[in-house]
Amino acid sequence: MLVTSGQLLKKAYKGHYAVPAFNINNLEVLQGIMESATKLRSPIIIQTSEGAIEYAGMDFLYAMVTTAAKKYPIAISLHLDHGKNLKTIKQCIAMGWTSVMFDGSALPYKENLSKTQQVVKWAHAKGISVEAELGAIKGKEDTIDIAAREAFFTDPVQATQFVNDSDIDILAISIGTAHGPFKFENKTILDFKRLSEIKKNTHLPLVLHGASGIPHRITDMLDHKCSDLHDCGRVAGAHGVSDTAIKKAIKLGINKINIDSDLRLAFTAGMRNALLAKPHAYDPRDILSESRDLVAYIVAKKIALFGSARKS
Ligand code: G3H
Ligand code: 13P
Ligand code: ZN
Repeated sequence: MLVTSGQLLKKAYKGHYAVPAFNINNLEVLQGIMESATKLRSPIIIQTSEGAIEYAGMDFLYAMVTTAAKKYPIAISLHLDHGKNLKTIKQCIAMGWTSVMFDGSALPYKENLSKTQQVVKWAHAKGISVEAELGAIKGKEDTIDIAAREAFFTDPVQATQFVNDSDIDILAISIGTAHGPFKFENKTILDFKRLSEIKKNTHLPLVLHGASGIPHRITDMLDHKCSDLHDCGRVAGAHGVSDTAIKKAIKLGINKINIDSDLRLAFTAGMRNALLAKPHAYDPRDILSESRDLVAYIVAKKIALFGSARKS
């Protein structure tokens, strides 16, 4: 059943757990997610970035996710992740996405607020939910170092004002995570005090972006025979968010957790494993089915960690 993220997250807020929000770009990743979510009866947010829409097409993504929502007996929301382009946001709302994020985190506060208010007007008119971001979650191509990240953390006082003035349903906050596999030099360091203050002041479902754990089981698979593949550098030194930190963040009020990198790494590790084990394979199904299985494995782990099993 297709529902809004607001509906899923209201329940998560009351039940003190987090709904997993997974990014997809293709069919096999979606299938892997649905397999484990259905087995464990977890609600799921399937999210598509603007890059995913450019890669796969809005119509294909919509068709795949709505088909999944009909086929599987669990509650699913179709969410636009990090929407920056107002035209794309409007198109997603018109086509039937049940939730959108407006990411104005790189804009001056006033512009972030006014554009968020505009998106809220469009979305609420169709009964769908809006996530917005205050503070900024860095990573990927950003060259900013870990110590300097703090300058971009969410200010709890500003967050209260932003939530009151914008009427958003869900707030993404910055407390030390980063996008991509390289989040920390070693140990997870998050500003939990800030998280508690934001929760106390806003009373909204909060989102932890950049929350992948970068598990060793997967990075080891990618390292396996890497010298044969001229690829020993890809994940060297990668560190994700620890399971202990995720549990604490949920306890303090995180209700939506965004995972993309773990699925990307699992998908690629599955392909690599299949190509090494079956060097004569040329049927994509022989290769991509291993990717799909590893995605399902990661998804099951996240559902157990986030406490969302048997909630749908
Ligand atoms: O945080 C963003 C997600 O990981 C999506 O990344 O824009 O490369 O699709 P993308
Ligand atoms: P990761 O890169 O940690 O998976 O974060 C994904 C994300 O925040 C998507 O919005
Ligand atoms: Zn994100």
